[in-house]
Amino acid sequence: MPDVPEHLRALHGDVVVHDDADAIAAACAELLAGASADACASRGRFDVALSGGSTPVATFDRLAGAPYRDSIEWPVWAVYFSDERAVPADHAESNYRLVREHLLTRVPIDPDRVRRMPADAADLDVAADEYAVTLHGDLPPGPAGPAGAPRLDCIVLGLGTNGHTASLFPGTPALNVVDRWVTRGRADHAPFDRLTLTYPTINAAALVVFLVSGAGKSAALRATAAGATPAADVMPADGRLLWLLDSAAAG
Ligand code: 6PG
Repeated sequence: MPDVPEHLRALHGDVVVHDDADAIAAACAELLAGASADACASRGRFDVALSGGSTPVATFDRLAGAPYRDSIEWPVWAVYFSDERAVPADHAESNYRLVREHLLTRVPIDPDRVRRMPADAADLDVAADEYAVTLHGDLPPGPAGPAGAPRLDCIVLGLGTNGHTASLFPGTPALNVVDRWVTRGRADHAPFDRLTLTYPTINAAALVVFLVSGAGKSAALRATAAGATPAADVMPADGRLLWLLDSAAAG
């Protein structure tokens, strides 16, 4: 496996550089299978938040194939979202649609345990509060934090070329929300309106994994290592942070 380059050593958490996007997907699928088995053994459920975008698709496809389709305890999974765009559930830009097509319809996850973010609601503030109530009802409280946020077992995140993660975009009010678990986000490209988990929720998780692939991400990674992007503020208070990069992104 390629070494972690000097300019990325300041990233918080563990950093692993893989050869290519396929190797990232293989590593992430294995990681999720292990995290699911651990959570299943200790709590009898696995609460995982997934992201949209293009990068996690290869991981979803791997999870839906051999050996994971048959080896993972899918009925213990409860699936949440890191963020969602303000579009209907069947829209081409919907994160829910993406996860549904590539994973949820291909493995025996209980549909009643899939918690879509209602980002197509008329009032996004109300929708954010509703999703926070869902998280509160499903999840145990996390480690002490500003909002006493609920603790997900795992959150899978991506990194935008501008350093955003989930729908925490540079210069937007969502970055400053410390007293809510879910809030509205505002992207710099369409679909503009979003719902997103807040830092208190992301940083309460037991495991946060970033998937970052391609040369187009290398400047954003460098800026994140310098502490200059929204992704740089992802620092689980009592959990593991892991960066799975490919050598193109690591630059
Ligand atoms: C979204 C995502 C977002 C994504 C990054 C990276 O809804 O847009 O959740 O945060 O993870 O933009 O996207 P790519 O994987 O497509 O580069």
